[in-house]
Amino acid sequence: MWTEVDKTVKQWLKETRVSILEALEHTLNIDTKSNANDLVTNVDKETEQFFVSRIKEHYPQHKIVGEEGFGDEVHELEGIVWIIDPIDGTMNFVHQKRNFFISIGILEDGIGKLGYLYDVILDELYCASKGEGAFLNDKVLPPLQQGNIEEAIIGFNPASIHSEDAASTFIPLLKDVRGARSYGSAAMEFAYVATGRMDAYISKGLSPWDFAGGKIIVEELGGIVTDLRGNPVNLLERSSILVARPGLHKKLCRYFQS
Ligand code: IPD
Ligand code: CA
Ligand code: CA
Ligand code: CA
Repeated sequence: MWTEVDKTVKQWLKETRVSILEALEHTLNIDTKSNANDLVTNVDKETEQFFVSRIKEHYPQHKIVGEEGFGDEVHELEGIVWIIDPIDGTMNFVHQKRNFFISIGILEDGIGKLGYLYDVILDELYCASKGEGAFLNDKVLPPLQQGNIEEAIIGFNPASIHSEDAASTFIPLLKDVRGARSYGSAAMEFAYVATGRMDAYISKGLSPWDFAGGKIIVEELGGIVTDLRGNPVNLLERSSILVARPGLHKKLCRYFQS
């Protein structure tokens, strides 16, 4: 069954690419959500609606959690659950028209089975099927190697620097690592950890759709995904996120233990 679902998701992603590129040729309809910088566009909504209607048609028993609210009210992870972010990096989408991803995680009884991070503009699909490896398009991604702090490039959200505990957590960490990057799309940052372009990504508050797809891919490669204290994350709740190479993860956790 998973091979068939995988093939279908890939087809749907290619279809959405065509509509998204077409939509980018026209004026976007932009709204705000929780604050003036929390953007949402017609494309975020239409892309989620596309997936929800296709999933309902092909897999009526499956449940869907989607950022824009077109899915179901899901309170437990029993059965098959799709967790979808139709556009991750909406601010990039609006301002840069690049550096945004579609993120999908598919779980069975809480276990990640299929994960997808799709860079729509570059037509680069990062995906994993549990126990069968992770890929960038048709290329197999090698398992993640151990890493150390001194040579690490970490992804983080610059807003973290304003947090009350930054003086004892983020600031010392940023001094110790080789470099830091911020791309404005959690999905992209997970994809960069998966490919070794970055060694870790740290965020104080993400929603399940921001990390579900990425978690499945990075874990397939031996990477570790927890909250900042090193605890497992709940795929139905907001959480801080620390995703890193094996070995390096434990070292990074120490900065957030106090
Ligand atoms: C956002 C991006 C961003 C992260 C925010 C997310 P959205 O997702 O992943 O990198 O810092 O917390 O909300 O809203 O563009 O899908
Ligand atoms: Ca959003
Ligand atoms: Ca997101
Ligand atoms: Ca989104």
